[in-house]
Amino acid sequence: MDNFTVLSHPLIKHKLSILRDKNTDVKKFRELVGEISTLMCYDATRDLPLSDVEVETPLTKTVCKHIAGKKTAIVPILRAGLGMVDGIIQLIPSVKVGHIGLYRDPETLMPVEYYCKLPSDIEEREVIILDPMLATGGSALAAIEYIKRYTDRAIKLMSIIAAPEGVKKIHDVYPDVHIFCAELDEGLDENGYIVPGLGDAGDRIFGTK
Ligand code: PRP
Ligand code: URA
Repeated sequence: MDNFTVLSHPLIKHKLSILRDKNTDVKKFRELVGEISTLMCYDATRDLPLSDVEVETPLTKTVCKHIAGKKTAIVPILRAGLGMVDGIIQLIPSVKVGHIGLYRDPETLMPVEYYCKLPSDIEEREVIILDPMLATGGSALAAIEYIKRYTDRAIKLMSIIAAPEGVKKIHDVYPDVHIFCAELDEGLDENGYIVPGLGDAGDRIFGTK
């Protein structure tokens, strides 16, 4: 499938197995979301453009590479996407962070928007949307639609677990959005939860249940 990548690094797979475990406590869950996000970020930024920069080492001048232009912007979908932010900042300390507040109505499963704030120079940056769960895809689709009002630059979506239904929903509308996940699960249950999944990511990150 084009623009869809399941990250297969053994460290990611191992950490994901602990993340899924219902007995993993809040502290460990948060740490794992951060660590997995850092590892996913390494792959999701593999295609960042480079430009030449002259550096003087203790021995001589040499031409090295650095990341060209303005750095990426990340946009976590509140709440659960917040759990991924620090893991990305570990690798891209100067990244700008927008926020999109969406929750999924438990009856209709439709996303409800309650907050949006994007970096003012968003149109000059590649954007990575962060949300640990891509279930029906309604929340991610709403976030992409919102961000596309402000920029024509590439948008990536980083989700720790994706369901096939969510991937299809995004790519039916936006085949150009590259989706990165740590695992593609079987599907959704009758309540729209990913199976086998990990439960409610927001509740597990923030300890609200
Ligand atoms: C969860 C999750 C995604 C959304 C995925 O958020 O973090 O944002 O559901 O479901 P979808 O693909 O079917 O839209 P939730 O609505 O539980 O809000 P929260 O992050 O505030 O807990
Ligand atoms: N949101 C979650 O947090 N978990 C799911 O399985 C589906 C949506």
